[in-house]
Amino acid sequence: MAISIETLFKERKFPFIFTFLILLFCVMILLYANNNNTITISTSSTLDTIGFYPDVKVQEQQQPLNPSPFVLQDSSSSTKSPKEKEQELLQKNKGLLKKVEGFGNVDVKIDWKLCKGVVAVDYIPCLDNLKAIKALRSRRHMEHRERHCPDSRSRCLLPLPKGYKVPVLWPKSRDMIWYDNVPHPKLVEYKKEQNWVVKSGEYLVFPGGGTQFKEGVTHYINFIEETLPTIQWGKNIRVVLDAGCGVASFGGYLLDKNVITMSFAPKDEHEAQIQFALERGIPSTLSVIGTQKLTFPDNGFDLIHCARCRVHWDADGGKPLFELNRILRPGGFFVWSATPVYRDDERDQKVWNAMVTVTKAMCWNVVAKTVDSSGIGLVIYQKPTSISCYEKRKENNPPLCTYNDRKNSSWYLI
Ligand SMILES: C[S@@+](CC[C@H](N)C(=O)[O-])C[C@H]1O[C@@H](n2cnc3c(N)ncnc32)[C@H](O)[C@@H]1O
Repeated sequence: MAISIETLFKERKFPFIFTFLILLFCVMILLYANNNNTITISTSSTLDTIGFYPDVKVQEQQQPLNPSPFVLQDSSSSTKSPKEKEQELLQKNKGLLKKVEGFGNVDVKIDWKLCKGVVAVDYIPCLDNLKAIKALRSRRHMEHRERHCPDSRSRCLLPLPKGYKVPVLWPKSRDMIWYDNVPHPKLVEYKKEQNWVVKSGEYLVFPGGGTQFKEGVTHYINFIEETLPTIQWGKNIRVVLDAGCGVASFGGYLLDKNVITMSFAPKDEHEAQIQFALERGIPSTLSVIGTQKLTFPDNGFDLIHCARCRVHWDADGGKPLFELNRILRPGGFFVWSATPVYRDDERDQKVWNAMVTVTKAMCWNVVAKTVDSSGIGLVIYQKPTSISCYEKRKENNPPLCTYNDRKNSSWYLI
């Protein structure tokens, strides 16, 4: 039997009417919220301490967004021509139109195409700026391996290497990675004698060899600790920098000793070395000792290591060493394993004598110098823990930094 509204009033069913109205109100609120999908980032209230922006509304268009900027497509896996693929990507990217209110209604259209050319797979904008590199007046100090970022930003997606697979998982990845993910065969051939990396079927395998690790990297790591027992991996030495790291086996194996190592090397004829290191899951970065400061803060590392890293430490009156001194903590160590330490020929001895002069001027102490059973030698220097030695020097050379010299910015400082 239908109940009319009049009957409801007559029979005084007010609680029922009241509940009905509340329900109606809730449904209306829900409908309104569903239609309004604006994201509002507000800096008012308790977020004030971390918010720097005025009230900003970001409205996404109703079109579905590109699933992710990493729409890297393996050109071999489809029959489409590059032109067709480009068109397809363009269509997808139409969804990336964003409108930012509060900044003068700027329309940002992100138009990603696939990068082209032979270097496309390995393209690194600031390192592959051939125009800037060609224009350099000197390459003597590795200027051509330093960063030269292009004026205009490239907006293209790097194609995946042919046959790319999900990377091998850690910890297995330290010892083997998919060849197809970093398909660079030259280092295998080039460093065959030194056992850096071997191709084995579908994998690249890293046996832990290196220029100075004739008996393997574990032996070498233990040898350093035996040479100077003050060095206790994972105890007083926890944060290490490996300069000119090759494929970063040194840092990879120090992880076993509870030591975190940042490894670095430039993009040079040691093809793709940092890419190998990253694919292995070992912390590493592309960098070079050249004319500019390294992008690490002052007094940070417990130990810096260089095994035949080809840096002319004594060049320009020792400037590269002054830079190490900046980032090494007081009392920290510099381990240098290179031929001038253990060979007698004229060239090596000249470098060794220059190192003696520079390190003395910097108040670094030689705390160990030795040669192991395979004929590889190393020297360990220690940075002083107090300023007293600097004050006793006859000449203030290298001069002590003034407060103004100690800029904190990372990039492009000479
Ligand atoms: C002979 S390999 C030694 C690699 C590794 N340390 C080892 O013992 O197996 C020389 C390394 O030094 C790097 N290198 C050369 N010049 C450099 C520079 N100016 N700054 C940093 N690394 C440099 C090379 O890229 C390469 O990784």
